[in-house]
Amino acid sequence: MKIVITCKLPNEAIESLLETYEVVMWEVENEPMPRKRLLEEIQDADGLFTNVADQIDKDLLAHANCLKVISTMAVGYDNIDLEEARKKGIVVGHTPGVLTEATADLTFALLMASGRRLVEGMDIIRQNKWKSWAPFFLTGQEINRKTIGIIGLGRIGLGVARRAKGFSMEVLYHNRSRNEEVEKEHDAKYCELDELLERSDYVVLLAPSTKDTYKMMGRDQFIRMKNSAVFINTSRGTNVDEDALYEALNSGEIFAAGLDVFDSEPIHSNHRILQLRNVTVLPHIGSAAIETRMAMARLASENLRNGLEGRPLVHQVK
Ligand code: GLV
Ligand code: GLV
Repeated sequence: MKIVITCKLPNEAIESLLETYEVVMWEVENEPMPRKRLLEEIQDADGLFTNVADQIDKDLLAHANCLKVISTMAVGYDNIDLEEARKKGIVVGHTPGVLTEATADLTFALLMASGRRLVEGMDIIRQNKWKSWAPFFLTGQEINRKTIGIIGLGRIGLGVARRAKGFSMEVLYHNRSRNEEVEKEHDAKYCELDELLERSDYVVLLAPSTKDTYKMMGRDQFIRMKNSAVFINTSRGTNVDEDALYEALNSGEIFAAGLDVFDSEPIHSNHRILQLRNVTVLPHIGSAAIETRMAMARLASENLRNGLEGRPLVHQVK
């Protein structure tokens, strides 16, 4: 059987695949297999090892003549046309669980960097603009004892809630469904979205990308937030109306934002949001810890092998 791996991975992460299958792996580091090549390679592939940088859409799947399994090295799968895959009898696997803690760490790091203006501080030193200690120079927002509102209390959201407790924060959350067990265990309070936005000092978006969450953070939502509030997005850029976010940051409607994800990735350095002082941006690195990425690659390999050998996937997208 033939499998296509759309990104360059270290051999030790995919040993079991290399031993068993004919493997076509894209050989250039840090960039995805070009679409044209993928359209060719997919034609006679039995398995596809992908990630968030590829669009696994209807057009691509129309080229797949014998594809049985799509395995993405990611927890999110909004880049995959699930309905089309289902129609063609293709199973889809993903990698929840193994990236929860690393992504919660990165989310909290971005929260702290945004609230306390860390990156601005470094830029000032780099540009030789640091004149002296001064009473209100680079003052940001406190973190300890503040209120955090988590939108989307899945695994990663819970990881963020646990970290917030270590900073004596009050934890509010909004989710599709209420989870009273979690509320007790983590001392988190369920809120309607509007109330969460009004009360939170830090609003952290961790909802998956679906039809219901498309641009769920728009003008009305940013207006509800405090002028001192910080907005963090480590979920998907499509969950946010970027124009509305730009306006909210530019007009002082909110204090700052920390973003790891964008509507269109990679974001270009001349994007107007990057001209703002009060935005901290990262290149979609939520789960980018070495151990985590190795675990994700191994889990994605296992999903792929299980699927190709007719066994249940470790984590199948339903
Ligand atoms: C990354 O964004 C992922 O979904 O794992
Ligand atoms: C991801 O693992 C989530 O459910 O938050």
